[in-house]
Amino acid sequence: MKSEKLKTNNILIVANWKMNPSTPTEAQQLFAAVGKGISDIVGAEVVICPPFVYLSQLKTINYPSTKLRAGKLQTGSQNCFWEDNGAFTGEVSPSMLKNLGCSYVILGHSERKSNLGETREMVAKKVRAALSANLIPVVCIGEQIEKEMNVIFHSIKNSKLKNKKLVLVYEPEWAISTAPNAKPDTSEHAQKAIARIKKIAGNDIPILYGGSTNSKNIRAFIESGTQGALVGSASLDAKEFVQLVKNAAMH
Ligand code: PGA
Repeated sequence: MKSEKLKTNNILIVANWKMNPSTPTEAQQLFAAVGKGISDIVGAEVVICPPFVYLSQLKTINYPSTKLRAGKLQTGSQNCFWEDNGAFTGEVSPSMLKNLGCSYVILGHSERKSNLGETREMVAKKVRAALSANLIPVVCIGEQIEKEMNVIFHSIKNSKLKNKKLVLVYEPEWAISTAPNAKPDTSEHAQKAIARIKKIAGNDIPILYGGSTNSKNIRAFIESGTQGALVGSASLDAKEFVQLVKNAAMH
């Protein structure tokens, strides 16, 4: 299974804002503060995934820094539908997101699986649709690594889509900071899980870690072989998030 690599060997940090913040002004302030904070960091690619409603507004913020205009702070979505248009009330298609300037889309998050009944098959359809629209799917893989990956990989196996960019995230449900008794995975356990993912995905697909990451523990995950992280709670605090990116990108 081949995939074009990410642009460079940069660390990739994807911020999952989930259903936060409550107002467009707060969203704009958070986005701008992160943009400013990361403008001098070398070696990291940062993607902000806000709720759908803020996406177009965040695109239009004008930054003084030319580095940012060069694409340092990118936007992504937290979900998309598997059809491109039509009678699907409430859904948003991959091409709409692409046309809005998104480059990434988070798919298969465990909160969507447990709260909304999203199945592996639905996730696989979304992955196909996102790849077809030239979005980069950031696909969450929980503890049932082989089962989850087989459904996704089977669905793209015999198509040209398999050569497009794809990112995987090892994200055990119990490690997500809002889960009851949540605690981050140990870097040793994450390393073993990532080895299992690589067995199926090969070495060309970047694998991130997700679950209770913060500026203090991020380095251990990067050193254990992940190419970055999917960050929830810590991405809602600009100072903490910028520090996390700094520590992740540290050489
Ligand atoms: P967390 O969330 O960093 O708050 O644990 C990660 C996620 O759910 O993507």
